[in-house]
Amino acid sequence: MRQAEKKQLAAQAALEFIEPGCILGVGTGTTVNCLIDLLPDIRSKVDTVVASSEETANRLRAAGFEVSELSQSGDPDLYIDGADEANKHFHLIKGGGGALTREKVLANASRKFICIIDDSKWVGVLGKFPLPVEVIPMAQSYVARQFIKSRGQPVARENYLTDNGNAVLDIYRLTITNPLEMEQRFNQIPGVVTVGIFAHRPADIIVRASDDGIQTLERR
Ligand code: 5RP
Repeated sequence: MRQAEKKQLAAQAALEFIEPGCILGVGTGTTVNCLIDLLPDIRSKVDTVVASSEETANRLRAAGFEVSELSQSGDPDLYIDGADEANKHFHLIKGGGGALTREKVLANASRKFICIIDDSKWVGVLGKFPLPVEVIPMAQSYVARQFIKSRGQPVARENYLTDNGNAVLDIYRLTITNPLEMEQRFNQIPGVVTVGIFAHRPADIIVRASDDGIQTLERR
C-alpha cells in the first residue's frame, strides 16, 4: 500500500473518535488534510473547530466550517494531528510543517489527543527526523550554537517564517534517548519558543496505518 493510502486510512479511522457536540482541534499536515476532506461527511457531529495553523484554518473554511479561536472555543474535547515520528511511549516529533507551537498548545489544551500516522513514522528512538525548533529570529544563531554543544547539527529553514512570525531550526543528528528530559532542557534555551518533542504531553491514542490495516494503540 502506498504511503498516501495509509494516511487516508488513518484519517478515516480517526473519524470514529469524534462524538456528537465535539469541540475539535485540527492539526496540520498531509495526513490531517485527508481528515479535513472527510469532515464534511460528519459535519452534524462537530460543534466547533479550532485550527493549529493558517493553512489548516483555510482548508477548514474551504470545507465549509467556521473556524473558532481557542480563546473563544473553550478547551477542545479532542485534538487530531499527525506526527513526523512516534514511539511506543507515545512520544512524538512534530513540526515538519512548522506548526509545532500552535500544535503543542492545542495538544495540551485538549482532553484527548489522537495522533494519526502511517507506519513509516514509527521508530524505536526519536531523532532520525531532524528536530524542528521554533525560535525568535534575533536568537537564531545563539540557539543554533547551543544545539551544536548538544552534538546536534542545526540547519535554518530558508525563507520560512511560522504563523507566529518566527524562524525554524531543524536539528539533525540528535539521538533523543530521553525525550522528557530533552524537551524540558531544550525549551529552556533563551530564544526557543517551542521544541518539536511532544513527550510531556504525549498522544493518548495512536492510530497507525500499515499494510496490515489499522492498529489503534492506547496509552495506559
Ligand atoms: C506539522 C506537523 C505534522 O503533523 C507532521 O509534519 C506530519 O505531517 P504529514 O502528515 O504531512 O506527514 O507536525 O507541523
